[in-house]
Parts: sequence; C-alpha cells; structure tokens
Amino acid sequence: MADTATTHAVVLRDIGKRFPGVVANHDVDITIRTGTVHALIGENGAGKSTLMKILYGVQRPDEGAIILGGQEVQLHSPTDAIAHGIGMVFQHFMLADNLTVLENVVLGAEKLHGIGDAARKTVAELSDRYGFGLDPDQLVEELGVGDRQRIEILKVLYRGAKTIILDEPTAVLVPQEVDALFENLRVLKEEDHTILFISHKLDEVLAIADDITVMRRGTTVGQARPGSVTKHELAEMMVGSELPTPAKEGSTVTDEVQLELANVSVVDPRGRSLLTDISITIHRGEVLGIAGVEGNGQAELVETIMGIRKATYGQVRLGDVDITSWETRGRREAGIGYIPEDRHRHGLLLDSPLWENRILGHQTRRPVAKGMWIDRSGAREDTDRIIEQYDVRTPSTDTLCRALSGGNQQKLVVGREMSGAPALLIASHPTRGVDVGAQAAIWEHIKRARKDGLAVLLVSADLDELIGLSDRIEVLHRGRLVAEFDPRDVTPQDLGAAMTGAHEDAS
Ligand SMILES: Nc1ncnc2c1ncn2[C@@H]1O[C@H](COP(=O)(O)OP(=O)(O)OP(=O)(O)O)[C@@H](O)[C@H]1O
Ligand SMILES: [Mg+2]
Repeated sequence: MADTATTHAVVLRDIGKRFPGVVANHDVDITIRTGTVHALIGENGAGKSTLMKILYGVQRPDEGAIILGGQEVQLHSPTDAIAHGIGMVFQHFMLADNLTVLENVVLGAEKLHGIGDAARKTVAELSDRYGFGLDPDQLVEELGVGDRQRIEILKVLYRGAKTIILDEPTAVLVPQEVDALFENLRVLKEEDHTILFISHKLDEVLAIADDITVMRRGTTVGQARPGSVTKHELAEMMVGSELPTPAKEGSTVTDEVQLELANVSVVDPRGRSLLTDISITIHRGEVLGIAGVEGNGQAELVETIMGIRKATYGQVRLGDVDITSWETRGRREAGIGYIPEDRHRHGLLLDSPLWENRILGHQTRRPVAKGMWIDRSGAREDTDRIIEQYDVRTPSTDTLCRALSGGNQQKLVVGREMSGAPALLIASHPTRGVDVGAQAAIWEHIKRARKDGLAVLLVSADLDELIGLSDRIEVLHRGRLVAEFDPRDVTPQDLGAAMTGAHEDAS
C-alpha cells in the first residue's frame, strides 16, 4: 500500500449510488495516477457527473470507498473534499459578473488568506505560475468564457486543490480556447496536479488524456491509453455497439426565403454596438451556420430573431411577414422553434416534471393545448414520443427535469423544439453536452426536417457540426459578418482564422 500513497491520487472502489428509480453508479472502480490527466467518458446518463459529485462531497455514495493518497476518507461536503485537496469546476460557471477576478477567486475563502494585498499577490502569482494571464482587478463581466473558466480553476487552486475535476470544460469553448485550456492543464500537470476531465469530444480526450476510463450504464466498463486506442473504438466501448454513420445527402435548399434580416443593427443602452448591419437570408430547406468565438454577437443575433431583443435598425422578416416588432410568443406561434444557448436559464424548468417542460414555450399549441386550456394528457403523450424518438433516458414523464443528466436535458429541449413541424429552427449549440451517438441522432432529425423544408439558423462552437450540417457558413466577429464559406471546401483551420479576426487584419 505504501507506494499506492505516492502514485495514486484517487482510488474509487466499488462505488454505488441509487436515486429513485435509477442506479446512477454501481461497482465503480477507478484508479487515478498522480500528475496525470484522467479522462472519464461515456453516454449521457452513464453516471460520470454523479461519480465526480461523490468525489467532491456533493453526493454521498450508498456503498464503496474513496481512497485519497492511500487513506480511506469520508467526504460529507465540498468543504471536506477541499480540505483533502479536491476541487471541482462545474459546467455552469458560478461567478459574480459585477465583481473583479480577485474578488471572485477570494470570495468564500477569506478565512484562508484574507482579502487584502496578500490575497492579491497570491492570486497574481498563481495566475502567472500557471500561465492564466488574468488581471486580478478586471471585472468578470468584461471577460469571455475562456477566461471565466480560468477564474474557476484559479478558485480551486487558491483553495489548495491538488486534484481538479473538470465536468465538460470544453463544451462551451471554441477550438482556440480548447488549445489554451489544454496548455494550462499541461502546466498544472507538470506542477504535480491531477486532473479529472469529462468530455464527449473524443478527439480532445485522445489529445490531452494520459488515461481514459469508459463508463456505461452506471459502471466502469473499460480503460484505455490514447496511444493504443482509436476514436472509433472508444465510441464503441461507450455505447456497446457500432455507431451509426450519418448519411451524406445532396442539397435540399429551395429558393423560398424563410427568414430574412435586412441591415439589422443592435445598439445597447450604453451606446455600444452589439450587432452591425447584419443582412442574411435563409431559404426553406437550408441550414445557415454561424461561426464565431463566443461573445462576438451570436447571442444577440439569436435574441434579435427571437424578439428577446429589439433591433435598433433594420428589419426581420419571416416568410413575407415583417415581424420586427413582434413579441417572442407571437414569433414562436408563427412557427419558430428555439433551442437556447443556456438550457438552464431559458429552456427548462428544472424543478418541474418532464411533461410540464414539454409545454414550456408551446402553451398555446397542440398537442399540449386545446383551445385556451392546457391538455395534460396530450402533453404527457407527446413527452413519451420525444423520450422515444430522442432517446431521453428517464424513469418517467413525471420525473423532475433536474434529475436528468445534462445530455438528456438537452435531448428533451431539442425534441420539444422540433415538435409540430416548425418552419424555422433557431438552434444555439443544439448538441452541447450530448454524447456522440445522440449527436448523430439529432443531426439526422435536423436533416430529415430540412428535407421537408425546415430552415435552420445554426450557431455552434463545434466546427465539425457546423461543417457537417450547414449549407453555408457565415462568420461573426465583433458583431459583424466578416466572411462566408462553403462548408464543402472549408477546413476548421480556415474557420478558426476568420473567427479570430485574421481575415480582417489581412485585408
Ligand atoms: N439528483 C438526482 N436525482 C435523481 N436522479 C439523478 C440525479 N442525478 C443524476 N441522476 C440520474 O443518474 C444517472 C446518471 O446521471 P449523471 O448526471 O451522472 O450522468 P452523466 O454521465 O454525467 O451524463 P451526461 O453526459 O448527460 O452529463 C441518470 O440516469 C440521471 O438521471
Ligand atoms: Mg454529466
């Protein structure tokens, strides 16, 4: 056992965890070597987040042992986990926008170092040492997702974490930011930190991991090392069967315009331009992809089309109807499906059952409404249909949304927004957090609907998804459309260059 203590940061033995109607973890055995990046992969609902929450003291296991540095420990809360050098960064950042980097890092840990000059010095030193490049006095609201994530990591380092759990850290990052994160992880590793990394992106896993553990249906089903396994083999270990290969298809683009934005600009109350002179058309049967580094106007573009924000100048037309001044509800009723970027804030009621979530945003339409009334049995039946067609893993339609795994929540939103044959789908990161099998299935659903005339605006950080689904790709940079590409002859590198503004600088 003595050498286990020096080489194994974490050993999880025979871990089991049940929720009502669900075995989230059973017979889980994992050994994490100190100073490595250990990737945890598996289908949506396989039990990855639950296992990591057990290691972080958020959930208590029903059985099994947690062994840290050779000692069995009891973790009753995150405070216990932190005391044992375990830190976790959740997918939904928990930062206060109106505070500085320093304040966010120090918040809640004042007892540890106080909040004076010594804290500022420590934070600056940590940021330098790991190459984070953060300014302690900058306001968080001015920072993009990549920096926000670094603040979250800094927060756990500041609390003394030696083992850091990252639950799908790259889901919200574009490729350049993923590279930057991986660089940070390499430095952390050199400094003898241990990283637990959950991801559905197998290329990334192969690029960064030293060890890979595969989970399926609540348990660990395999181990691999990047050098001796392919992406395809990993996918098969995850699902236990062969993956479907999405069929290549010809163009379904028609000449009927479904959505048109004419010279749309959005200026915020402080007079800052968020979108400048955007003109786009999407035809029936066409997918228009929007590429861009997060924070370059994608959110504002989507919100303007959905009526959540009003265009300061310009027009929005659905078919030949000017909807510029319409409210969101009217736009939805006119046949716009909407997959929002943040499913927790805008797409779901986490403390309501699945069937009530089927109604959300659709409360005036069949099959969830009859006349002015909500049709509960209609809503339940249609929820069953979505569960079946989109493979949402849940005990029942009465389960609360919060109890679903992240990817299964996303599948529910996609299924709902594809309901009732929408004329136009505004899809922000439609497959964020879903596993490779479910991603292929969602792509098929969208392609099938496109064949029947669906027009789609697709915003995605996943360049393979943009290239694979789009008929045309436009690049947004600082609120302007700066480049257009034909997905048949564009590479992720070309797109990446345009997204970071290289196009503009060159011209
Ligand atoms: N608080 C909870 N109450 C009830 N069931 C839960 C709860 N948390 C998780 N579950 C269930 O446990 C199982 C494992 O979920 P978990 O979130 O660990 O999956 P995951 O592997 O992280 O999936 P994803 O890739 O979609 O994030 C799922 O069936 C989920 O519905
Ligand atoms: Mg998860």
